[in-house]
Parts: sequence; structure tokens; C-alpha cells
Amino acid sequence: MKKTILTGLRPTGNLHVGHYFGAGQSWVKLQDEFDFYLEIADVQALTDNFNNPDKVRKNLYEITKDLLAIGLDPNKVHFFVQSKIPEIAELTVYYSNLVTVARLQRNPTVKTEISQKKELFGNDGESITYGFLGYPVSQAADITCFDGDLVPVGDDQLPLLEQCREIVRKFNSIYGETLKEPEQYLSNFSRVKGLDGNEKMGKSLGNAIFLVDDEDTISKKVMSAITDPNKIKKDDPANPDVCMVYYYHKLVNKDEEAVKNICSECKKGARGCVQCKKELINAMNEFLKPIHERRKFYEEHPEEVQRILDEGTEAARERAKTTMENVRKAMRIDY
Ligand code: TRP
Repeated sequence: MKKTILTGLRPTGNLHVGHYFGAGQSWVKLQDEFDFYLEIADVQALTDNFNNPDKVRKNLYEITKDLLAIGLDPNKVHFFVQSKIPEIAELTVYYSNLVTVARLQRNPTVKTEISQKKELFGNDGESITYGFLGYPVSQAADITCFDGDLVPVGDDQLPLLEQCREIVRKFNSIYGETLKEPEQYLSNFSRVKGLDGNEKMGKSLGNAIFLVDDEDTISKKVMSAITDPNKIKKDDPANPDVCMVYYYHKLVNKDEEAVKNICSECKKGARGCVQCKKELINAMNEFLKPIHERRKFYEEHPEEVQRILDEGTEAARERAKTTMENVRKAMRIDY
């Protein structure tokens, strides 16, 4: 029997190159080894976008197309929609008794997010909603509803996984051994820097290359990427290790020999930044080509995207139903 993995994303925007190298690429590998459940977490996205339902709806389809475009195979991965699985909502209610408000307020991921969303939650988080504070509880329900063994997530999500494990332990200690404690699936996740050299690529940071970007957009973005600030003239020697253009060459340029040359020429002052950027534009377009081709098919066949979501959701729901039967029995509410 294959082990089950489960992961999720909030449908709030398109996927960018950072998502691809940080997670997507490794998911494509995992789909062969595991029984893979991939949640489009629209309910979670609504916790901080409750005032913008159209954004969540639109991005549910956008993100699904992005995920299919990077090579996730709907015959191997169950793509499912969180709001279509009422069992998750039910389990969230039962779990909410097993976690204190103080513990949620101390969750580092939640704390960081509150401080980033001042507009919505106020300067000191004084307007935080019950729903947002509680989303780790709902995420614990996401994960355990499907009896997942492993959760492939980045380090920023570890406090949420830890909280999930605590809830599971508490559940089992009160109601009897029922649920499995999921584990983090460690892969070589790497955080991808932004075009501006920021440690993180992000939509809100305005430093991202999206997988849907067309050639014009790519060209403009790459031309604005940060290079070694000490290089003034075209033939000044420079330090490629502080240059974002070299950084992305290493990520997307498949010609290893060329990448080595870029490094040594840059150090010697034998290459200008404009030429280097043009070569990166080409490499980036090459890298995105198969992704764009696959995406085009789904753009032209929205009914296929809907079918994939419907079927994935149905498979996920079957599993959630079984878990919930065990949960209700353990909690003595299986009337
Ligand atoms: N919180 C995750 C994020 O913001 C998304 C998510 C929802 C998730 N449900 C999940 C991740 C279950 C892992 C497992 O990216």
C-alpha cells in the first residue's frame, strides 16, 4: 500500500517561479510514489479574504490550471476543493474544543500573518477574527480527515503541523486511539529569492515571475532584476554571487556549461549585464514553454478542469467519510 500524502494551497493568486522550485517541482516527483491528495484550500483562503469572494473563486481555477501545467497528473493526484468536503468543517468543530485560544495566539505562523495584515486585523491584531485565529484548527482537520501519513510543506508551515500533531494527541488521549499523527515530509525545499534580491519571492512583494507570465512581461521583469551594485561599467569585474541574474541562470538555464561561463566571465569583467539578462530571458522562456503549452490545453478546456476537481473531490470525500465515522464513534456521537 502506498503511503498517503496531503498538502494544500490557498487560492489567492497564480503560482510563481518560487512556488515551482520551492514546492511544485518536488510534488511532481512525489506523485509517482504516494497516494497524493492536493487540497485547494478555498475555505482557508476566505479566512483572510472573506470580503473578496470573487478573488478566491477565480484563483481556485487559476491555481488548478497552474498545478496541472507544471506536470501534476490528475490520474495520480486527487485535486480537491476544501469547501466541498463538509466533513472537514465538522471535524474542525470537534477539534476546536481541544485547543486553547492562548495556544493559537502563540502560533508563530499565525502571529507573523496577523502582523502582515494590519489593514484587515488592525495594528495589534485587535480586529482578528475568530475564523482566522482558528485556521490552524481547520488545517489540522484538513490533514487528518484523509488519514494522511506525510505532509510536504516548507518550514513556514511547521508550527501548523506541530499544532495538528498536538490536537491529534489530545484527541487520542481523550477519546481513544483513533487518528494518526502526520509527519512533515522533508524534501530539499529551497526558498527562491525575488528579482530584487529579497529572501522571498512573493506576489505582494512585487518581485515575482509568475508561471503564466508572457514573453513581454518576462523581458521587462528580467531587465529590472538586481545585479552587482558595484559593477558600473560593462567590463568591470563583478561578483555573480550577489547578482539575481546569475542566481536565476542557475535555476532555469539548462546549459550547465553556459552557466559556468557566465560565472567566470562575470568575475573577469568579460560580460555585460544586458547580454546576460537577454540570455536569461531566453532561458526563462525555454523553461516556461512546456508549462505554457500544458496550461493552454486547460485554458481551452475549462470543462476538463471542472471534471478533475469534481472527481478528485469525490475521491477525497470518500476517505473523509470513513475517518469521520471513526471519529464520531470514538466521541460517542455515532447515534
Ligand atoms: N496553510 C497553507 C498555506 O498557506 C495551505 C494549506 C491548507 C495546507 N491546508 C493545508 C498545507 C494542509 C498543508 C496541509 O500555504
